Amino acid sequence: KKITLSVIKADVGGFVGHSGVHPELVKKACEELDASPLLIDHHVTYVGDDINLILTHELGCNNEDIRRLARNILSACTEVAKKLKLCGAGQDLLSDAFAGNIKGLGPGVAEMEIEERKSETVIILMADKTGAGAWNLPLYKIFADPFNTTGLIIDPNMHCGFNFEVYDLVEKKKINFAAPEEIYDMLVFIGAPGRFVIKHVYHRGTGEIAAVSSAQPLYRVAGRYVGKDDPVCIVRCQTGYPSLGEVLEAFSHPHLVAGWLRGSHIGPLLPVEVKDAHPVRFDGPPRVIALGFQLAGGKLVGPQDMFADPAFDNARQVALDIADYMRRMGPFEPHRLHLDEMEYTTMPQVMRKLKDRFIDLPEDRETGT
Ligand code: 13P
Ligand code: 13P
Ligand code: MG
Ligand code: MG
Ligand code: MG
Repeated sequence: KKITLSVIKADVGGFVGHSGVHPELVKKACEELDASPLLIDHHVTYVGDDINLILTHELGCNNEDIRRLARNILSACTEVAKKLKLCGAGQDLLSDAFAGNIKGLGPGVAEMEIEERKSETVIILMADKTGAGAWNLPLYKIFADPFNTTGLIIDPNMHCGFNFEVYDLVEKKKINFAAPEEIYDMLVFIGAPGRFVIKHVYHRGTGEIAAVSSAQPLYRVAGRYVGKDDPVCIVRCQTGYPSLGEVLEAFSHPHLVAGWLRGSHIGPLLPVEVKDAHPVRFDGPPRVIALGFQLAGGKLVGPQDMFADPAFDNARQVALDIADYMRRMGPFEPHRLHLDEMEYTTMPQVMRKLKDRFIDLPEDRETGT
């Protein structure tokens, strides 16, 4: 019997601003899920202003009924958000709540269909104020870096390595890389996480799924590439997979990710427990939560709030220090994102206004001073 674990998420309205999810939305989602006959189990959580539906069922990946259920629930939550006049009510679902975002409208999804092992440990990573490329570095560390994951060296069930499936979000292509042999080639691509994003990781011995992210291709709006942000990722742990600690260790040294305020800045990814998943400082910094579950016949035994561990306090301190450092740069790159990557820009308007004041420089080098 195969079990499908689906994590479906959307921002349907922030409380307050873009910092959190109102408890009424969580309550609404739980009520609706309780009433559904399609599911084995569910858990509702949030990170920042994104509500996350964690679902188990037997209907497989890309199932229409499950997608419809999630969409209906998130629409019902949107109605609550509208009533409370929450910030950006229906942001990820309604075309009038988000500027220009039509084709990419809809919830973000990460899901895997698995044969439950004797003990099936999974960690669900969820982030706010960043995009799916934020998982590239930790997924690389978890599944390809022996300095993070000693199991790659000492566990006979993991020594074969992992296959990485990488999406080119712009050209809408995918490619497979075998780690460890092809890590140099792979890093050429995944080191550019705004465009090349890890979608799946597979165990090379069994071919079984090890991890899946919510990455999906970018779509063009008004000449710019726009993507679905605030990503999720499911990672299987133990026996043949990295241990729980090897997965979480990848977040012990906060890396820089794109997102933060107005989706237009670079900042550290701060690992927090759910109670601290309210990005407020400069609408951030970007943060990640990790919920651990044991699956038992599709039942979600848990969650355990993984970053509620004082051993991550130093990582948090480092992230906060980086945040201070980056903030001092204000509107300058590389704190502010590159022109092509910002969610907000006034460049076209300002350029139009000032275009007659730009004076051509002489072409030849001698006088062009
Ligand atoms: P225990 O000895 O506590 O079961 O831990 C086993 C282990 O391998 C931890 O990584
Ligand atoms: P969200 O993508 O989490 O809604 O954040 C938007 C934003 O502009 C924060 O400053
Ligand atoms: Mg929002
Ligand atoms: Mg968000
Ligand atoms: Mg967002």
